[in-house]
Amino acid sequence: MRYMGLLEQYKQYLPIQENTPMITLHEGNTPLIRAEKISDMLDMDVYFKYEGLNPTGSFKDRGMVMAVAKAMEEGSRTIMCASTGNTSAAAAAYAARGGLNCIVIIPNNNIALGKLAQAIIYGAKVIAIEGNFDRALEIVREITAKHPITLVNSVNPFRIEGQKTAAFEVCDQLGKAPDYLAIPVGNAGNITAYWKGFKEYHASGKTDSLPRMIGFEAEGAMAIVKGEPILNPETVATAIRIGNPASWKGAVQAADESGGQINYVTDEEILDAYRLMAGKEGVFAEPASAASLAGLIKLHKQGGFKGGETAVCVLTGNGLKDPNNAIQSVKAEPLVVEDTEAAVMNAIEKLGGT
Ligand code: F0G
Repeated sequence: MRYMGLLEQYKQYLPIQENTPMITLHEGNTPLIRAEKISDMLDMDVYFKYEGLNPTGSFKDRGMVMAVAKAMEEGSRTIMCASTGNTSAAAAAYAARGGLNCIVIIPNNNIALGKLAQAIIYGAKVIAIEGNFDRALEIVREITAKHPITLVNSVNPFRIEGQKTAAFEVCDQLGKAPDYLAIPVGNAGNITAYWKGFKEYHASGKTDSLPRMIGFEAEGAMAIVKGEPILNPETVATAIRIGNPASWKGAVQAADESGGQINYVTDEEILDAYRLMAGKEGVFAEPASAASLAGLIKLHKQGGFKGGETAVCVLTGNGLKDPNNAIQSVKAEPLVVEDTEAAVMNAIEKLGGT
């Protein structure tokens, strides 16, 4: 049967009524890819839930399709969000699709170029503030409380509803719930959503067990790990450069109830995992996404697994969002040579041969 999009696919689990517009860009239905070499390396069964293949290149499309459909149902004309980039791309795309206005507030100079390009080409009004994501979210909350504008950050509960469908897909694709779900944590909406999804699927008899939720913040932005907001969060993974996660409680609850944990990874660990996924498995995800694999590797090094467990790493965004980071992180530019066979062969030798 032809896939008709997330709202149609999971309508029985979603707040969909007769008058909810069933908009779609065919979000969701993303592949679960077995990480062959990394599974061998860790003596586990490791999979990537590759959310970078959503229509705007990140998991945000799952929540945004639901939030925008509900905004339209309620007669809203304008949506607004703060974003480290991906939420703004998704909001802008679904606003275009649904015929709504879209305003996005981003931290100046701290979003990946691809994400900025998306928000602009989809026609959003893009405003960059001289402050970070946390400040942008405060401002958006203030403005949307006073004006008839729908807030579409993940504090909007419809976002969480849409995003929980990724947990359903993981269970359907594996034929069971995984033992571990490794996930990057920024504003903490996604870990909250996955946990809700796993619990609902389990309650409806679709799975026999629940995964342990292991969430990873970036070291320079590890508010939950530290137990206090970080005033000036810093990390190479700009998508999760967040110092005061809005769904803090949801993340802690997911970790506690599931017997998992919220931990952190360094930028170096993130970039190592980022190169490993691309170079050894052929999967290019953005740096924030690599926090999930980096975290799994970190816990493995600490002796956290007995071996043979099934672990799913959520790869939240596409690597193409942030090409500059990829080029910088391998410190390699293409060799420029003369247009002769000899010069090209010479260059191949220089690069290590055939
Ligand atoms: N990975 C990517 C690629 C993200 O863009 C985000 C969040 C996360 C992980 C963390 O998810 O916030 O639900 O814990 N990006 C938001 C944005 C903040 O504005 O695009 P979270």
